[in-house]
Amino acid sequence: MTNLKKIFLGFLFLMLIVLGIIWVNIPKITPYYTQLSKTRVGLNLDLQPKTQKEAHFVGSQKCKECHEEESHDWKASLHSKMIQDIKKDPSVVIADFTMLPEDADFTLAQAVYTIGSKFKQRYMIPAVINGEEDFRLGNYQWNEENKKWQSFKPYKYWYKEAYPHDNKEFPTSNACDGCHFTGYMSTGKRVEPSISCESCHGPASKHVEDPDSIVFKASLSDPIRTNEVCFQCHMRNRDKRIETENLKVKDLWMKAKDYPDGYEPGKPLISYKLPAPFALGEETKEFWANGSAKKNRTQGNEYIHDRMYQHGITCINCHDPHKLTNTAQKSEGNDACMKCHSFGSIIGPHQDMLEEHTHHKANSKGSLCIECHMPKTAKHTGKSPLTVRSHLFTFTYPAQTKAYKMPPETNACYVCHKDKTLDSLQNNLKKWGRLEWEKLELPDIHFK
Ligand code: HEC
Ligand code: HEC
Ligand code: HEC
Ligand code: HEC
Ligand code: HEC
Ligand code: HEC
Ligand code: HEC
Ligand code: HEC
Repeated sequence: MTNLKKIFLGFLFLMLIVLGIIWVNIPKITPYYTQLSKTRVGLNLDLQPKTQKEAHFVGSQKCKECHEEESHDWKASLHSKMIQDIKKDPSVVIADFTMLPEDADFTLAQAVYTIGSKFKQRYMIPAVINGEEDFRLGNYQWNEENKKWQSFKPYKYWYKEAYPHDNKEFPTSNACDGCHFTGYMSTGKRVEPSISCESCHGPASKHVEDPDSIVFKASLSDPIRTNEVCFQCHMRNRDKRIETENLKVKDLWMKAKDYPDGYEPGKPLISYKLPAPFALGEETKEFWANGSAKKNRTQGNEYIHDRMYQHGITCINCHDPHKLTNTAQKSEGNDACMKCHSFGSIIGPHQDMLEEHTHHKANSKGSLCIECHMPKTAKHTGKSPLTVRSHLFTFTYPAQTKAYKMPPETNACYVCHKDKTLDSLQNNLKKWGRLEWEKLELPDIHFK
């Protein structure tokens, strides 16, 4: 063989190795590359299309005329069923009213709307509060998980110092309606019950006249603005005026609002929303000391701590915004994660095979990504079991659960191995040769 041939073959061989390395390492993330590598607009830029600023809400019936598929998907999802009109369709009531306790301060005949249907149902009753026509909540709620009535005193959970301790004086307008009725957040009018198209796409009268005059996708092209569309509701907060006007909760007597008043999709959410406070190591009303949730609708609060959020992964990378799959208790399994992650890729898991990563048999429940990375840490009501999965994603070690004085039941390993102690589970992990845990490092939280 001539030297030239040798050099050429050697070169070819080298190229093949290089290509091989690249091939193995091309993570499945490639389709998302534009999303991940784009310059972020930051937290303060307003991306709401100018033409939309003069638009008003038209309602989902209008959208259906031209967008059959999205309307069909949305209609079947829970977003369309959050608030349901009892007078229009009495079958929306899931509670057993024959079992309603005697000291209930409402009857089925008085209730106009149901709130929720999956985990619990509460009832809206017309009332004049503070001289205004409003709605109040019944003093019992239906717990669908155990099929029982449960006492419900909303003023205990929503701005205790800002409302009278009497649920007949507690208005849904300020405490709930911004997140449950379309249009209420920015107009103060219940344009349409439930979370309909314009809750996420903004008021659309101009778009209906001239489809080109509004480009919804452009306003959602930035991952931060996209996530904020969901954060407006799926993130616990405090009345923004506590920060901007330096007020105390009691200064907001009968006025405290529990939603980002004035926000519309595309606008910078940070100008309207003050997230519920959290400091690593401190347990609060809403969070365990590691940042995972104690209550439902905290997905945004948890997610902003995660590396996936910081890399530009959005809620809609995992959830279809119209169908809402994955839904609670109905995950799409490991496929939902493996469409981006792959073994040996640069984003991990860093082992070569499923079993090497999980140390459980491939067909074991202990090899399901969400069982270890999204343990159930939160509750839907004070008396419910832990059913809400965490959106913190980062793995919480048994030693961390112990150090942060969290209940063992919030730890992924312990949930399936209640016969073992947190210490022995931590030892298992050590034996598996997993990184030594010293302290949980949460990255800087940009959304403050
Ligand atoms: C008169 C027909 C019509 C009505 C009514 C209508 N749209 Fe559209 N919409 C269109 C057309 C045409 C397009 C552009 C073509 C396409 O991408 O499908 C469009 C595109 C969109 C897009 C995608 C924009 C993009 O940049 O890709 C969204 C989101 C949207 N419409 C939402 C809505 C919502 C929400 C409503 C109800 C408030 C609504 N539309 C009502 C005709 C309509
Ligand atoms: C929970 C928020 C939410 C609701 C409610 C919602 N959408 Fe969307 N919609 C989105 C997001 C986010 C996108 C962008 C999807 C993407 O880029 O992959 C989108 C995309 C679209 C598009 C562009 C085509 C597509 O499917 O990507 C149309 C058209 C549309 N929506 C119409 C509607 C209509 C009509 C309704 C009401 C029946 C509706 N949407 C309700 C969030 C929502
Ligand atoms: C205007 C408020 C609001 C917005 C905006 C919103 N949601 Fe929701 N979402 C809710 C409420 C309220 C429920 C509970 C609905 C029910 O139980 O009837 C819910 C339920 C869900 C569920 C659970 C569905 C199930 O079947 O269990 C998912 C998943 C979800 N939302 C994802 C999203 C995503 C992703 C976005 C952003 C694209 C978003 N939501 C935007 C208020 C909102
Ligand atoms: C900041 C937005 C926001 C406010 C304010 C809010 N909610 Fe919700 N609510 C949500 C979201 C998002 C969900 C669904 C996500 C979850 O449960 O994790 C939800 C879920 C619920 C559910 C469970 C639905 C089901 O199908 O089981 C009920 C009931 C409910 N809310 C009632 C209320 C009442 C009553 C108030 C006012 C006293 C209120 N909410 C205030 C956003 C909000
Ligand atoms: C990396 C993927 C991923 C991302 C990102 C993600 N989710 Fe989820 N989410 C899931 C999976 C998987 C489930 C279903 C778990 C189960 O089977 O109970 C879920 C469940 C939910 C539920 C139902 C919760 C319950 O138990 O009541 C809501 C609501 C939700 N997600 C909202 C969001 C919102 C809002 C965002 C953005 C802040 C988001 N998710 C981001 C994967 C994701
Ligand atoms: C759309 C793509 C995408 C999907 C879908 C996805 N991931 Fe990720 N994930 C990423 C990226 C990108 C990173 C960041 C990697 C890094 O920081 O090196 C990441 C990081 C992670 C991390 C480490 C982050 C941390 O803070 O500890 C975990 C754990 C994780 N993902 C779990 C999951 C699980 C579980 C699912 C399915 C429910 C999932 N991912 C779905 C893209 C995705
Ligand atoms: C039996 C529990 C368990 C299951 C199941 C599990 N993981 Fe992990 N995962 C871990 C632990 C423990 C770590 C922490 C490793 C560390 O800190 O060194 C981890 C870390 C990660 C990381 C961070 C990068 C790395 O390799 O350290 C990613 C990404 C990840 N897992 C994705 C997944 C995906 C995707 C699945 C489903 C295919 C999955 N995990 C299933 C326990 C699990
Ligand atoms: C969703 C349930 C589930 C989770 C989460 C889970 N395991 Fe397991 N584990 C199992 C099952 C089932 C087996 C039986 C063997 C198998 O399927 O691989 C098992 C087997 C084991 C074994 C070997 C048999 C034994 O009992 O000694 C150890 C050790 C173990 N798990 C430790 C852990 C640790 C540590 C974690 C957290 C990183 C964990 N498991 C998370 C379900 C789970």
